[in-house]
Amino acid sequence: MSVLSLEENTSLRPPDAEPRLRKVWQELEEGLLSVSAHASPKYFYDAVGSVLFEAICELPEYYPTRTEAEIFTRHLSEMAHVIGTGATLIDMGAGNCAKAARLFPQLHPEQYVPIDISVDHLHESVTRLQQRFPHIEMTALGMDFSTQWHLPDEVRSEKRLFFYPGSSIGNFDQEHALGFLRQLRAACEGDGDGNADGGILIGVDLIKDSALLDAAYDDALGVTAAFNLNMLRHINRVLGSDFDVRQWQHLAFFNTKLARIEMHLQARSDLTVHWPGAERRFAKGERIHTENSYKYTVPRFLHLLEQAGFGRTRYWSDPSNWFAVIYAQAI
Ligand code: TRP
Repeated sequence: MSVLSLEENTSLRPPDAEPRLRKVWQELEEGLLSVSAHASPKYFYDAVGSVLFEAICELPEYYPTRTEAEIFTRHLSEMAHVIGTGATLIDMGAGNCAKAARLFPQLHPEQYVPIDISVDHLHESVTRLQQRFPHIEMTALGMDFSTQWHLPDEVRSEKRLFFYPGSSIGNFDQEHALGFLRQLRAACEGDGDGNADGGILIGVDLIKDSALLDAAYDDALGVTAAFNLNMLRHINRVLGSDFDVRQWQHLAFFNTKLARIEMHLQARSDLTVHWPGAERRFAKGERIHTENSYKYTVPRFLHLLEQAGFGRTRYWSDPSNWFAVIYAQAI
């Protein structure tokens, strides 16, 4: 097993820090000072945020995790038959590696490459997994694939299968989703001999009744609300700002026209937030846009895959057609 970190640690410091950290600071500040304020969803994930996210996935209202797992349980042997064994399984956003591990007994990958922004988190899970599956070569990568990226030489170029479950693709807007899929398609090329034998196995959340969608992102216990609000504390640490969580409210709803769940934080009263060098006034009801989660129809998503250079698609769904797992080959 090997662990490679292609990312330096991002602990944030004031704006006179090194250029890369200054960029992070500026990006955050710019978003908060925009007329329609926004903040990157990456600030969801600090220690508390990661635990809350795991809790979201256990909630009765949050159907995607459960539904996707059911699809895999039910159709895994057929998937393995279609995909074939011996893949280089590249897990985009592996976390605790549990979803991929469930594929191993049938898919028998040759190499497993979990990728996550936090390599520390990966380290533990991969060590455990390597003991359970000693015959699979494991190469953990700490890498941020939300922008431009490339895979190091340690990743086999043969039969690359990019695994992207959890409908994470929905958190990109259409343009970035296409850009991301095109990067995956390019990485299927492997050794660059023009003979692409790679593919993608991806989980996609489907358009459904908006009451079900709304509830999934605004649960009765308020776990998703806590997850969203926790971002303000994370931002306080990064920016040195004085957001008071109690002055803000979680807002999540399905925007039918744009086919996306929108998550916002809404000011409960007129207020001002300060941080070194700047401040921002928010009127009561004003919002900070924190995340989108786009929902697709299967044909719409297949079209996106086609535009990215994938084809020969197969997909599996649940009986209510809430979620789809799609396999597509680089063509
Ligand atoms: N990609 C999943 C989704 O959009 C998980 C997720 C990302 C999520 N950010 C979230 C779930 C915020 C709830 C709230 O559903």
